[in-house]
Amino acid sequence: MCGIVGYIGDREALPVLINGLKRLEYRGYDSAGVAIMGEGTNVYKCKGKVSDLEKHIDGREHSGSIGIGHTRWATHGEPNDVNAHPHVSYHGKFIIIHNGIIENYARLRDKLIERGVKFKSETDTEVLANLIEHIYENGSVDAELAVRLALSKVIGAYGIVVMCTEEKDKLIAARKGSPLVVGVGNEEYFLASDATPIVEYTKSVIYLNDGDVAIIKKEQLNLKTQRSDETGPTVQKLSFDIGEIDKGGYEHFMLKEIFEQPQSIEDTFRGRVSSEESEIRLGGLYDVLPRLIEAKRIIIIGCGTSWHAGLVGEYLFEDIARVSVEVEYASEFRYRNPIIEKDDIIIAISQSGETADTLAAIRQAKEKGAIVLGICNVVGSSIPRETHAGVYTHAGPEIGVASTKAFTCQVTVLAMMAILIGRKKGLISDNKYRSLIKEFTEIPEKIKKILTLSEDIKKLAKLYQNANNALYLGRGYLFPVALEGALKLKEISYIHAEGYPAAEMKHGPIALIDNKMPVVIIATKDSSYEKIVSNIQEVKARSGIVIAVVTEGDTVIRKMADHVIEIPETTNIFAALLSVVPLQLFSYYIAVMRGCNVDQPRNLAKSVTVE
Ligand code: M6R
Repeated sequence: MCGIVGYIGDREALPVLINGLKRLEYRGYDSAGVAIMGEGTNVYKCKGKVSDLEKHIDGREHSGSIGIGHTRWATHGEPNDVNAHPHVSYHGKFIIIHNGIIENYARLRDKLIERGVKFKSETDTEVLANLIEHIYENGSVDAELAVRLALSKVIGAYGIVVMCTEEKDKLIAARKGSPLVVGVGNEEYFLASDATPIVEYTKSVIYLNDGDVAIIKKEQLNLKTQRSDETGPTVQKLSFDIGEIDKGGYEHFMLKEIFEQPQSIEDTFRGRVSSEESEIRLGGLYDVLPRLIEAKRIIIIGCGTSWHAGLVGEYLFEDIARVSVEVEYASEFRYRNPIIEKDDIIIAISQSGETADTLAAIRQAKEKGAIVLGICNVVGSSIPRETHAGVYTHAGPEIGVASTKAFTCQVTVLAMMAILIGRKKGLISDNKYRSLIKEFTEIPEKIKKILTLSEDIKKLAKLYQNANNALYLGRGYLFPVALEGALKLKEISYIHAEGYPAAEMKHGPIALIDNKMPVVIIATKDSSYEKIVSNIQEVKARSGIVIAVVTEGDTVIRKMADHVIEIPETTNIFAALLSVVPLQLFSYYIAVMRGCNVDQPRNLAKSVTVE
């Protein structure tokens, strides 16, 4: 959480910083600030969004070609002007932006107070700013060494960028547990929490590793370890374009991303799934394939929507590859003492590749000797770099806080993996394989067809925009879709919603059913169709309102349900890829009608880098 940007070069820093912060606002949006060094040094910060910051700066002095900026998701201290970043040290020599948490900040703060340092904010970041300054003033060291010594005393996670008003030719950046990317321009450098603010200036980037400290001058970058050993930076090329991070004419990123799903699934297929080939190709898994085929158990970990994709994965791997699967919240997995056998494989799923709990769970699993694979979207993020092997989803940048295309691409990758393993194990005949691939590659076209229903779904949303609660039900592959539909509704429209396996309804949730609460039932034709028809009858018998997602041409449920959304037929194993789309649209339109900030829902952030 929190977005950080930095610039050093010949341009005016402010526009670069403001543009960058707008691109990173999805990471946190309760306050924002910038610091710019030119002839003088100016720090501007305020509660609110980047647009509020722009108004705050308007008409004030801001020239300078070195600067840092921050958009905050509050951890220590409420969102207000004082707690906003950048933080300036007591004597004004250091200015710092920070993403992460300094866990031992209270102890460090007390010690600094004992030595006469005064604090203005409640943040852990100001402690770090003052610690650096204290070491700089009392240790007769330069800014770089002061930063490194301060960081050696810190427990916790950080991505920081530091400016020193007495060494105006450089920015000092460091990371441990929070991402930082450096963009390499021509006699200029850009810094950001991810590459989206950088891609419009340069495609050459360096992803900092944990423990790296970068000393960045206009014409040169030195990368060192915290102990000052020089390390050679690896410059990589970004694989996406600026066009992919604009709204592209849509009102919201979320809507754009819902509509991008046919393309993003095609991109996830590219070079991997083809009707001309006799098997699926996943180059990233090549070295671990024998281990995967022999695995006795797969443990899938993730958070939020990625965890829901993992649940679909459980059904896929057990169905197609006949391997036993457990799906765990990363945050629970890491705090247990999980038993990991030598033939187990861990699969970590994460759109951002930066989720703190997922990363911590990966580290724990590796310590226990496990082989850990990643399914991630953001190229070069921490999870792909810390896992033994993996597969990128290629969904393209997902900016809306509510995950949509990342989910369908994660499920696409899981289906590819399950089919690959099933085929390698000899469980899928040539004929079966051909028909599976035919069905799989038709999914993007079928999603396009569902997207043409958006106006009908909007009308439905209008009817239920004022609901206080909603229940989502599904069975088998469609149970995780029920969970995902409920999550989408609650996170962007603030309507309380629960997802349940349809059969579980009788064990509690049925008590909630009345003539006000919509019950969304995903009831496409599969092996449990008859059972779910009975569940619909049970809801109707209690005067419940049923919105059913059904297979095209279903006349049975049409007669019972209050509303039906018809989607194209597909086989069980791909059903989640289609049935989730109308639920995404339903939540989106309800949230818009309720006047909610769809792309930046309250209290949330896209990338949860705190534990
Ligand atoms: O980047 P990750 O996939 O690891 O993120 C996990 C969750 O934070 C994320 O899916 C979250 O639940 C979304 N807001 C859901 O829409």
